Amino acid sequence: MSYRQEYNKSIQQPVEFWREKAQDLHWFKFPEAILTQDENEIHHWFSDGQMNTCYMALDYHVDNGRGEQTALIYDSPVANTKKTYSYLKLRDEVAKCAGMLKAQGVEKGDCVIIYMPMIPEAAIAMLACARLGAIHSVVFGGFAAPELAIRIDDAKPKVIMVASCGIEISKIIPYKPLLDNAIDFALHKPQTCIVYQREQLQATLLPGRDIDWKIHCEVAEPAQCTVVNGDDLLYILYTSGTTGKPKGVVRENGGHAVALKYSMHAIYNMKPGEVFWSASDVGWVVGHSYIVYGPLLHGCTTVFYEGKPIMTPDAGAFWRVISEHKVKALFTAPTAYRAIKKEDPDGEFIKQYDLSSLKTIFAAGERLDPPTYHWLTEQLGLPVIDHWWQTETGWAISANMLGIEKMPIKPGASTVPMPGFDVHILSDNGEKLDANQQGNIAIKLPLPPCSLTTIWGNFDRFTASYLETFPGYYVSGDGGYIDDDGYLFVMGRTDDIINVSGHRLSTGEMEEIIATHDAVAECAVIGRTDDLKGQVPHGFVILKSGVSIDQETAQQEFAELMREKIGPIACYKDTVIVERLPKTRSGKILRKLIRKILDGEDYVIPSTIDDPAILDEIKASLKMQ
Ligand code: COA
Ligand code: AMP
Repeated sequence: MSYRQEYNKSIQQPVEFWREKAQDLHWFKFPEAILTQDENEIHHWFSDGQMNTCYMALDYHVDNGRGEQTALIYDSPVANTKKTYSYLKLRDEVAKCAGMLKAQGVEKGDCVIIYMPMIPEAAIAMLACARLGAIHSVVFGGFAAPELAIRIDDAKPKVIMVASCGIEISKIIPYKPLLDNAIDFALHKPQTCIVYQREQLQATLLPGRDIDWKIHCEVAEPAQCTVVNGDDLLYILYTSGTTGKPKGVVRENGGHAVALKYSMHAIYNMKPGEVFWSASDVGWVVGHSYIVYGPLLHGCTTVFYEGKPIMTPDAGAFWRVISEHKVKALFTAPTAYRAIKKEDPDGEFIKQYDLSSLKTIFAAGERLDPPTYHWLTEQLGLPVIDHWWQTETGWAISANMLGIEKMPIKPGASTVPMPGFDVHILSDNGEKLDANQQGNIAIKLPLPPCSLTTIWGNFDRFTASYLETFPGYYVSGDGGYIDDDGYLFVMGRTDDIINVSGHRLSTGEMEEIIATHDAVAECAVIGRTDDLKGQVPHGFVILKSGVSIDQETAQQEFAELMREKIGPIACYKDTVIVERLPKTRSGKILRKLIRKILDGEDYVIPSTIDDPAILDEIKASLKMQ
């Protein structure tokens, strides 16, 4: 089967195509309704199928001869620990954990927030929720208490699962006080917090609300898998929108399992029993899909790495893990490869390890810039595959299908659309653009299995954000073009979202936070290009009249504010005080123009600009910074 045949079938006969793919999984009752539309005309996949994602990911393998195979390898240079879990051991630990949640009253449809570092208990907690048919919502550990509070109020969890601390290189980050603060800020109060005490730091438990994970798990009755329907929710994952309120992307059980299982062989060319490593964090969609669910649904071994690409202890960290655990495919963000390249440009560490198991390198989270692509290819002599996806889709929208037909690689392109994704480039007026013309990347409905079906608790925001701009299409928020060979080049967001070290952040939210400062009259936060992190935020602030703050104090105060409100991962450092901001005559800030000035790119002064002299003022302020 060629890529073209596979892709065409998925577009022309989606029901037959995905029914066939669904047969690769063990359902309690195979779905009859493959693709349906609800009363709001939203598409759902496999809605009447009966299943359990945890069963498909663990019990099925135990029942079919994989019980002794390693399911998960925990490798933590920061905690100086390595541990393996066979499918049987992982299934038993998940069943116990589910029993503990059940004893706390968690039932099908209840929400559980998981705020944990990269320790196996995070995966165990996710799978335990799936086992009960409960909906998990994992919150990345680098978010500060106010961000966690927003998610608590939106998801309204019955229970929160937390670890006493995370470890960032050699720094212990106490998680429990962050949770306590978040619960203080939030209006919704969880019934119970289950605390996993790490040996590096013991958290103080609040009597009547907090319970000790290990003690309660030990005595829990293992729970069986609860039967759920294909369209019941597996999880909510919050991602940045253009405002201060994140969007709760929801994922249904059926489509998620089918798409991920399919992608493991079709895109990543993995066979059951082989070792897959996604060096990300369970707090992001990559972690959900390819640290936890995808590899396990496919009967692979997944590597659970608590560490960094550099500094834990050096730029050889990834190559050490690959050689030690015989990893076949590595997947991480381009920023991680850039960090390694910066520390070890000549690949001295690469030469020190036996990397014969490694067959492919994957990158996503931001565009894989051609210099990094070339460096990786030269150093490793392996296929380096960039692929484009979003929290909203849960798997790749465009990629190179190594398990079907490997296409020639074009640096800078994320290759071709994946089955089910009918990708078009549209003008701002919604007209289809020709090859090589840059515009909005949109996907013709229906979206394939795994894609979001609403925003948690906010259907209107879902339709307004994704479906109303171009009727009949999902709008991705990314811009780019398709070349003459059908290759997709994703060139960046068309909205106020930036990607910092592969982490998706909202500059709109940052502006809302800066605006809360007493001295601020107006501000704009722009994503500036950064050699290591891809983009970093850069603030431009107009002070209220009569207020004066010097540049240095401003840098410090706004950076601290951002750290306190969003968290350290915002990587917000630079603020420049300006007198005015360039605007259109109708008062819209010309952010794209400011970004070009910041990045030292050529620009054309738009005819709509109110006063072109402001551009020289901005340049002068940047020089003084
Ligand atoms: N919990 C608490 N704090 C966290 C955290 C977590 N899970 N993750 C990051 N942070 C903190 C860091 O300690 C750092 O804090 P500091 O400013 O006090 O030092 C801050 O957030 C920024 O962290 P990071 O973005 O990791 O930057 P860095 O300069 O420490 O490291 C890289 C740079 C490139 C090594 C790092 O960004 C990296 O590993 N990137 C890969 C990203 C990735 O896997 N993305 C997933 C998408 S696929
Ligand atoms: P997230 O939802 O956090 O996965 O972020 C999704 C966004 O990251 C996309 O909308 C893109 O802007 C960007 N992105 C992810 N992967 C790629 C890629 N391979 N090429 C270009 N941009 C990417």
